[in-house]
Amino acid sequence: MHSYILAALPGLALALPGHHIAKRDSTLIPTSCFDSTSSLTEYFEYGYPWGDTHNGAAIMKESNAVISTAGTLTLNATYTGASDYAWDSGTVYAKQQFTVEAGGGLDFSVDFIATVDKGTWPAFWLNGVNSWPPEIDIAEWKGSGDISFNTFNSSSEVEAKDVEYPSPTEFHAVKAELRDENGADVSVNFYLDGSLVTTQYAGGLVGEPLNLIIDLQMEGSSGSPGPEGSKFPHRPRCSGVFSKPRQ
Ligand SMILES: *[C@@H]1O[C@H](CO)[C@@H](O)[C@H](O)[C@H]1NC(C)=O
Ligand SMILES: *[C@@H]1O[C@H](CO)[C@@H](O)[C@H](O)[C@H]1NC(C)=O
Repeated sequence: MHSYILAALPGLALALPGHHIAKRDSTLIPTSCFDSTSSLTEYFEYGYPWGDTHNGAAIMKESNAVISTAGTLTLNATYTGASDYAWDSGTVYAKQQFTVEAGGGLDFSVDFIATVDKGTWPAFWLNGVNSWPPEIDIAEWKGSGDISFNTFNSSSEVEAKDVEYPSPTEFHAVKAELRDENGADVSVNFYLDGSLVTTQYAGGLVGEPLNLIIDLQMEGSSGSPGPEGSKFPHRPRCSGVFSKPRQ
């Protein structure tokens, strides 16, 4: 039996808006990045930066992060029942690292269809290259029906905002704007479907490199048991990350 999770990104592009006096923004990953397997692997690696598992019940395989249709990245969780990791699933992370430079910023825009079932834990997130934290969860779904937006200064100093994720079988737009706030800290505006949901602050994040991860973890923070086989009919997807250069 297979369980499917599709994470479809018709395009992923990230804009570096420079700063308030920037002349022009740069696209860091073009919208064509999920047009084919070769474009995916031009910009992304399979798995996590540190390996193929992370805080959950899935082990990540290349076969479960696929371009099912042009422009669409599919993350597909397959129940295997293995005693150590009961699901095979998919994860990718960007080959390039992302840093909010002094006076600068980063924009991340994505459209998602994401599962909110108990035991399914898709996420689109930034994780410190040199240490944890920092962590910024641009979007995370922890099996509750909600979407979560989170910023970690430390394991105990966390800002977290959960809101209902409507119609999870339809696309929703997620966007995060990171900006140098004061030369040290970074402000993060989190948007869902074009509306600002919350603003959080990451202490000391200016100049700190981040990894960008798109994963479909199972169980862990999304509860257990996760769905097995035919109990898991959904095909969640994530789609469309744009760059919006500012003049
Ligand atoms: C999910 O992965 C399984 C096992 O690799 C594969 O047989 C199946 O076709 C995949 N489904 C999708 C929708 O990619
Ligand atoms: C992190 O630290 C900064 C600087 O002290 C503070 O402004 C911010 O609110 C903190 N953020 C979180 C998530 O605790």
